[in-house]
Amino acid sequence: MVQSTGFNKIRTAVFISGTGSNFKSLIKFSKKNKCPISIEIVISSNSKAKGLDYAKKYNIKKKNLNFKNKNLTEKNLLGILKSKDIELICLAGFMKILSKNFIKQFKGKILNIHPSLLPKYKGLNTHKRALNNKEKHSGCTVHFVNTRLDSGKIIMQKKVKISKKETVASLAKKILAQEHKLYPKAIIKVLNL
Ligand code: GRF
Repeated sequence: MVQSTGFNKIRTAVFISGTGSNFKSLIKFSKKNKCPISIEIVISSNSKAKGLDYAKKYNIKKKNLNFKNKNLTEKNLLGILKSKDIELICLAGFMKILSKNFIKQFKGKILNIHPSLLPKYKGLNTHKRALNNKEKHSGCTVHFVNTRLDSGKIIMQKKVKISKKETVASLAKKILAQEHKLYPKAIIKVLNL
């Protein structure tokens, strides 16, 4: 369980692989007055991730890791996180699956955002599958990460309406806008504030 003392900010690492719009929204959140977290480092599994530009812009330490040898990379990663006293990990469009051992080391301290109303549409291509199934709603979920993909305890969800003319792109855009609002709210909830 992550707990905020009310004085010290929770030292947070954000893990990304791509665009990093959720990373950007978390940076903005962290800069707010009385925000309970400080983003100490961003970890990317992709050296070309656009999200890394935000690290530069906002002066956040960044580390790019190649997960080809997962065991070795995770060992290295654990060392980096320990050296920075990281207490909370926010996965934000991170496309690698963390090992059971890694998750155990940060039990109850890893959050993820997923673009569907879990438990529906775990995994990839959520919007396409929701549209193919003629869903009337979809949304996004912030959940704890456990050892099963997109299956950890749900923290918060936001539902959005699927319109008649909805496309994968329009739905993705609509949901992403809600993700940016939901992640900060879910962090506040997790920290019991
Ligand atoms: C988001 O839709 C998130 O839910 C999913 O991957 C996407 C990442 O977008 N896990 P971004 O990199 O934060 O812009």
